[in-house]
Amino acid sequence: MKAINPTSTSAWGRLLDLATKYKTLQIQSLFEEKGRFDRYSISLEDILVDFSKNRVNNEIRSALLDLAKETELRQAIESMFGGQPINETENRAVLHTALRNRSNRAVIVDGKDVMPDVNAVLEKMKSFADKVNQGKWLGYTGKPITSLINIGIGGSDLGPVMVTEALKPYQAENLEIFFVSNVDGTHIAETLKKVDPETTLFFIASKTFTTQETMTNAHSARNWFLDHAKDESAVAKHFVALSTNLKGVEAFGIDPANMFEFWDWVGGRYSLWSAIGLPIACAIGFENFEKLLSGAYAMDEHFRTSDFDQNIPVLLALIGIWNTNFLGAASEAILPYDQYLHRFAAYFQQGNMESNGKYVSRSGEKVNYSTGPIIWGEPGTNGQHAFYQLIHQGTQLIPCDFIAPAISHNPLGDHHPKLLSNFFAQTEALMKGKSLEEVRSEMNKAGKSVEEIDKIAPHRVFEGNRPTNSILVKQITPYTLGMLIAMYEHKIFVQGAIWNIFSFDQWGVELGKVLANGILPELQNEEEINSHDGSTNGLINAYKKMRS
Ligand code: F6P
Repeated sequence: MKAINPTSTSAWGRLLDLATKYKTLQIQSLFEEKGRFDRYSISLEDILVDFSKNRVNNEIRSALLDLAKETELRQAIESMFGGQPINETENRAVLHTALRNRSNRAVIVDGKDVMPDVNAVLEKMKSFADKVNQGKWLGYTGKPITSLINIGIGGSDLGPVMVTEALKPYQAENLEIFFVSNVDGTHIAETLKKVDPETTLFFIASKTFTTQETMTNAHSARNWFLDHAKDESAVAKHFVALSTNLKGVEAFGIDPANMFEFWDWVGGRYSLWSAIGLPIACAIGFENFEKLLSGAYAMDEHFRTSDFDQNIPVLLALIGIWNTNFLGAASEAILPYDQYLHRFAAYFQQGNMESNGKYVSRSGEKVNYSTGPIIWGEPGTNGQHAFYQLIHQGTQLIPCDFIAPAISHNPLGDHHPKLLSNFFAQTEALMKGKSLEEVRSEMNKAGKSVEEIDKIAPHRVFEGNRPTNSILVKQITPYTLGMLIAMYEHKIFVQGAIWNIFSFDQWGVELGKVLANGILPELQNEEEINSHDGSTNGLINAYKKMRS
């Protein structure tokens, strides 16, 4: 991928001028132009993405598309799909798309087609997942597995958690699934209280098989299991490994036959499509897992082949760049109006922030513009009663993505119309706001005194003009969920490509890990510590005193 400073393009200059020219542009006024909804929304199969409620007019849209051209986005996309080592700081290809390449066309890495290996692991996953899902995988006392525990962290946790929660309606009734990620012993201790060793299957999920949190939890799980089973040979029926590290898996004591492999060209936060997805396949069945892959593949094809002006991930990314770099937004909220999607924002918090939270450009220099925003969010309507106040009336501009299914898996009474009325109302309210005149006339009609109106009215004014995208999905199914996830993955890719950063490494998480490794032995003796700065020494010594 070329290293093009986006600020050096003529499009960037034009966008800066447009930001000044349209400083007071009102989203609502843009709807005076007929047909805006049609031109500023795109349908792809069962998904409709409406980006019309943004501070983007035709001139701005065209300059954003020029930015994509001038930064050579098309070539960047081809490089990723084509298996080029675009993760240059780790010298790796970035090929989560190969994991869901339903066309099975060759994907070449270092002169070798990766598809035969991908398909072989999928076959192995199918055979295992079918047995577990159908109650045919038996534990050491001959009972079928009923509890699945995934032990992993970051990308080896968040994807499977998010997807199994999102697809709960598809989960086999005979199975319960748990996730242990935190090294805090509470996480595993509380989880183990809920399960029976005779019917529990552990997935040790770690790309590297060295991650401290996962290895610590995995050893505790193994000890707990052996305390009950009292037989090493029983481990094979209850522990499987999902990893790229065969040696590490063997050293832990898991039979390589029970290892489901993936490869260094799968990034941790893009790995749910790989063997890391095995707990998903066990929980919802392999056929449904394949539908998830197929949905993602449909979005991949759309992304790879559509014109940028009709390309959902590209347009979402460009609008995000407009909001971040030209309107000054520092965060983005993801707000699913679907309880099953309650971990969706958390998932893309890692997906986006670990990918694009970088200040060094692909040329190795510090960038002089903003890169990845803070990603956060909670399901609606809960968020409405918690933090929407700030989105509506706070001093920060917070672009929001609203996501909702047209059809609920739980069509109970009028719950769903009520939920969706809020989904529609919020983006309308954020755009329209409420003027002082409207507030005053409302209060007047309600019989309030002039003094009260003067005092209270300013607090009830909403400036509006707050940008949102609305993503309406027919129903959250494995297929549409696959589409949605891939849509956000590609949005992140486009932004990283244009911001001229490396989106597929994560050096920023290293320093803390290394320092923690140095501190750990210092916590295991009584000595006073003075090898750090004053604050860190003070804290460690206070900790030791508290425990003595
Ligand atoms: O937090 C850093 C990180 O490397 C993530 O990118 C990754 O998803 C997570 O740790 C877990 O890594 P592993 O799968 O190797 O245990």
